[in-house]
Amino acid sequence: MSDLRTLVRGCTFDDFLLTPQHSVLERRDPSAIELTSRLSQHLTLKRPLVSANMDTVTRSDMAIAVAEEGGIGIIDRGFRSGEIEPQVREVEIVKRQQHGVINDPYTIGPGAPLAEAAARMRKTGVGTLVVVDSEGRLQGLLTARDLRFVDLGAPPPGDRGHAHSSVADRMTPRSHLIVHSGTLDPAVVEDAMRAHKIKKLPLVGSDDRLIGLVTAKDLITQRQLPFATRDAQGRLRVGAAIGAKGDYLERAAELVRAGVDVIVIDIAHGHSAVMARAIDAFRARFGDMELIAGNVATADGVRFLMERGVNGIKVGIGPGGGCTTRLNTNFGVPQVQALVECRAAAAGQVPLIADGGIRRDGALIQALLFGGDTVMLGGVLAGTTETPGDIVQKAVVIPESHKTVRVPFKVFRGMASLQAIVDRLDVEDAEAADVEALGAEGMEISVPARGSVRPILKDMLKHLCSAISYGGARSLGELQEMFRKDPKRYVIRLSESGRQESFER
Ligand code: XMP
Repeated sequence: MSDLRTLVRGCTFDDFLLTPQHSVLERRDPSAIELTSRLSQHLTLKRPLVSANMDTVTRSDMAIAVAEEGGIGIIDRGFRSGEIEPQVREVEIVKRQQHGVINDPYTIGPGAPLAEAAARMRKTGVGTLVVVDSEGRLQGLLTARDLRFVDLGAPPPGDRGHAHSSVADRMTPRSHLIVHSGTLDPAVVEDAMRAHKIKKLPLVGSDDRLIGLVTAKDLITQRQLPFATRDAQGRLRVGAAIGAKGDYLERAAELVRAGVDVIVIDIAHGHSAVMARAIDAFRARFGDMELIAGNVATADGVRFLMERGVNGIKVGIGPGGGCTTRLNTNFGVPQVQALVECRAAAAGQVPLIADGGIRRDGALIQALLFGGDTVMLGGVLAGTTETPGDIVQKAVVIPESHKTVRVPFKVFRGMASLQAIVDRLDVEDAEAADVEALGAEGMEISVPARGSVRPILKDMLKHLCSAISYGGARSLGELQEMFRKDPKRYVIRLSESGRQESFER
């Protein structure tokens, strides 16, 4: 290990190639190769990908896509101070995207007017309301189809097809419903739904009180997405970032209430007194809630966070595509050196997220061998449909023809870029000098808009599997073990011309 530490000092991804080994895999298929990795002490991912908590990368759309592909998204905290609700809403959208069992389905009383039911469906985006009485006992189901011919205009006297009729008039009553009570065996539930050709199956307790709802759509998605990152209730998992000052505890409380799976205390320099205070306060208030903290890039930084009882650590000071920390402060650690040193300090006790600097798929396997248990991605996901932000058309001159064409772009920016800070702090009207004094450590760039992130994630996973095959292993875990036992067998330190031959195209 000390050999490896010496070899990687001052180095990052483009300084190395890996020596091909005798391959033992028949197929390089991500659905057949084990890529399971630890995100943190109590959370496991089937695929080691984490989308970065940046306001131009991860909101609910990205978090859903990444979780469905087996990774996890961390919703950024790039909302204005005190604006906690928008971040909570993003978490709620992810948690409501897929279910095994919906434990808290939207309900309505049988006496409620149909107009109220229609309004609730519109507001929640849900097409089925479970009808329950004031004791929570199942009375029926009301679907959007039941409201289809309801006139929302003024009521002619005695008209039962009107919005002023009550839910009980249009619902499918309890006596016509197939319901399930007793222990929940997913296979039995699926068989019952198939046999009765029903799309919704209410679950009731012995006293007929509603305890949940299973939908055919959820059962199908569960089967179609076998690698998705789900919690015990079958909902997608999602993380959310908080800071270490200001509203961070209040923010965490609301995020936890919304069902967030992991909180990330994310500050530029995690090896700091501010971080220590924040972790202590977090633990005092939220007990053993899963907590990742960062960023650090040294063995001391890792030990510091481990001693304070975090469940996962984010590693990377300044390798990110949108970062200017190293340019502006001259502090930082080349990412491969950081990963190797941090791994040695963590000694497998606390999982590490390799955060930043992945600009090509080949760097993924390096991040996972040199020290990361998972990899956090920002720039490589930028510009995709699932990232927040609008597409802007920009005029671009084609060098060969000198013709000007309009190309769609999206913005990608460091979270410490001036633009991101200005948006977050609501300081548009501040004096220019005050804004400059904020000390930006990031930049904003335009990246071409390039369609959905899903094929990009799928390609990454295929390339990862190819790398495992070249490495002579059957799974990611096996390759990590082989690499760590004998890194010299793999690591080739590149000369400048070797680097050019490898990575310059
Ligand atoms: P990539 O290379 O994947 O890196 O785009 C994503 C990571 O970059 C970090 N980040 C920043 N670092 N100033 C920094 O020094 C910034 O403004 C900034 N914004 C993001 C962050 O760790 C992210 O996950």
